[in-house]
Amino acid sequence: MQSTSREVASAPVLQELRTHTAELHIALEKRLPFFADFLDSHAFLQLMQAYHGFYAPLEDALRTSPWFPADFDLQPRLKSAILQDDLRALGLSAEAIEGLPRCRDLPALDSRAACLGVLYVVEGATLGGQVLRRHIHAHLGLDARNGAAFLDVYGEDTGRRWRAFLHYLCSQPLSGQERAATVRAAQDTFRCFEHWLQGREVLL
Ligand code: HEM
Repeated sequence: MQSTSREVASAPVLQELRTHTAELHIALEKRLPFFADFLDSHAFLQLMQAYHGFYAPLEDALRTSPWFPADFDLQPRLKSAILQDDLRALGLSAEAIEGLPRCRDLPALDSRAACLGVLYVVEGATLGGQVLRRHIHAHLGLDARNGAAFLDVYGEDTGRRWRAFLHYLCSQPLSGQERAATVRAAQDTFRCFEHWLQGREVLL
């Protein structure tokens, strides 16, 4: 049976994820340069290349993990192909994109619970995209047609798809230990992403 919104909001796994990743979210958000005065098209391209260097290997790892939940439809939620379209629209050749550095220090996908934690982070990030999309359009004139599709990857479906993900997450039978593994994987995803972006020198 489909869970209600109230049941979702009070689900232990979601409460624990929110409690234990809030600080990491705030810290990363503060360091991302989307709102920086110096952000021009070139700096935006650098940032999106760095995003691609994390999302592409992470999505590969999710797609191929033996632990990935078989009843979750990942394909329509993969985002790195859209990032590649953006990079091409911003002037990179297919060969240049192919040769971009990729992160190797990824969160461990060693359980179904861990896969759920990673999904929570990459699906939740689409919400912030809605704020960033408006800003980037206003300041750089970029939108889904000319290099910023990733920031609006689900378009008008963003809220609906987030809620659908939460219903899925919160309907999973998870023991206390599994919930802890979900939270750890979500925290690791934030940490690995920040560490990667720091190494690519795109953070404030
Ligand atoms: C400057 C960059 C960012 C901004 C402005 C931003 C902003 C937001 C906003 C407005 C929400 C919705 C909060 C709500 O509706 O209650 C949100 C949720 C979220 N964001 Fe971000 N975000 C940013 C970057 C990121 C990044 C890089 C990640 C992860 C890679 C991320 C992960 C999440 C997650 C997991 C949620 C869902 C929290 C929840 O409701 O459970 N965000 N963000």
